[in-house]
Amino acid sequence: MKTLNLVGAQWGDEGKGKIADKLAEGLDYVVRFQGGHNAGHTIYLDGKKIVLHLVPSGILNPRCLSVISHGVAVSPEAFSQELDELHLSGVHVSPQNLRVSANCSVITRFHRLMDEAREQQSGEKIGTTGKGIGPCYEDKIARKGLRLSDLSSKGQLAKRLELNLREKLVLLEKLYRIPFPSIEEEVGHLFHYGERLQEFMGDTFSLLETAERKGQTILFEGAQGILLDIDYGSYPYVTSSSTSYSGVYSGAFVPKSGIDHVLGVAKAYLTRVGEGPFPSELFNQTGADLQRIGGEFGATTGRIRRCGVLDLPLLKFAKKVSRMDSLALTKIDVLSQVDELKVCHAYRYEGKTIDSAFPGIDLTKVTPEYISLAPLPKMIAQAENFVELLELKEMRDFIELIEKALNIPVGLLAYGPNREALHFRQKYFSK
Ligand code: IMP
Repeated sequence: MKTLNLVGAQWGDEGKGKIADKLAEGLDYVVRFQGGHNAGHTIYLDGKKIVLHLVPSGILNPRCLSVISHGVAVSPEAFSQELDELHLSGVHVSPQNLRVSANCSVITRFHRLMDEAREQQSGEKIGTTGKGIGPCYEDKIARKGLRLSDLSSKGQLAKRLELNLREKLVLLEKLYRIPFPSIEEEVGHLFHYGERLQEFMGDTFSLLETAERKGQTILFEGAQGILLDIDYGSYPYVTSSSTSYSGVYSGAFVPKSGIDHVLGVAKAYLTRVGEGPFPSELFNQTGADLQRIGGEFGATTGRIRRCGVLDLPLLKFAKKVSRMDSLALTKIDVLSQVDELKVCHAYRYEGKTIDSAFPGIDLTKVTPEYISLAPLPKMIAQAENFVELLELKEMRDFIELIEKALNIPVGLLAYGPNREALHFRQKYFSK
């Protein structure tokens, strides 16, 4: 195995960061290919909490080269802040272990203002992270966005920004009526933070192409989750990038014979931040317990995550969308601490029973059908007897139910926040 795509199989926050960090041990490259600093990957290193937003999770492994490829939307200011935070946490970052594509789209302060204004004023709240992700990708598709390479000359920057802002200024002034910086101020701001980026910038496509030719190992680290994908997700309550497997191809690089393995990551239950339908959402004590015990707060915005029951029709759909080869099941320890265990195995939808979601399904109109299982054996995070617990019938029944429904193995289980609380049931790369 030379290439692996780690992909969120739900609505994000599945615990991908820790898995990426663990898999990255001994790898050559870890690549972010979509999204931006709306992501929040939390990793506990020697008891210290490190939250990565834009920087790939490979950064904690000294011999691994972390790459931010052209599909990522980069806020130069957020990038700079993240470098400062990593430095304060004792993580060494330099062009030797981090590269950024010069073709990444730039998130400006205007994008953030647009994002916030729409959320506050439009009456059609998506519940975004407010980081300017959507407006930035809109400009990219509209062919009037800025790229990181534009930041190296103030003249070029001013030219691109003027073009970019022609329509936006009217909206900010006349529709949303909010204060915004002048073009000159924004040029200065972007140029200032852009300078910090210069040494990291380059052609990451050729870097990856060469890596493939040399037979090096590459982990493509997805952010958010498949159900937030712009094309396959629960539209319009989605993010603005291709979070699924296909995003690797447009956002980073197309390996000659495809990607060797797609590893989906799913929580043993389900969470969602922001607005949008959530068929198996819990409004009872179990939901409140999962939220509290699981510490279900957004890593980027601190918002409370809505909690629900594992939804197999959605997970099956995610498997098909990203051609998942195996599944990592996370937060087993949290699920074990609640007294009630239910799984949604099918939906009643338009007079029929269906066991998989599909593009365009109206999730507000489905009636989930549940099966009840015996609760998992109680365990604490990092349980030392995890392997023994895994042999107990309740655990086996739960895992088998998922494997049978998806027809792929649960190759990995996570049972605590530390990078050591991972149990591998199959090999990834050579480990
Ligand atoms: P945006 O990506 O900020 O535009 O937000 C669009 C939707 O994606 C909202 O529902 C957000 O809560 C959700 N979202 C974006 N990033 C993440 C993430 O990293 N984890 C979970 N949800 C996210």
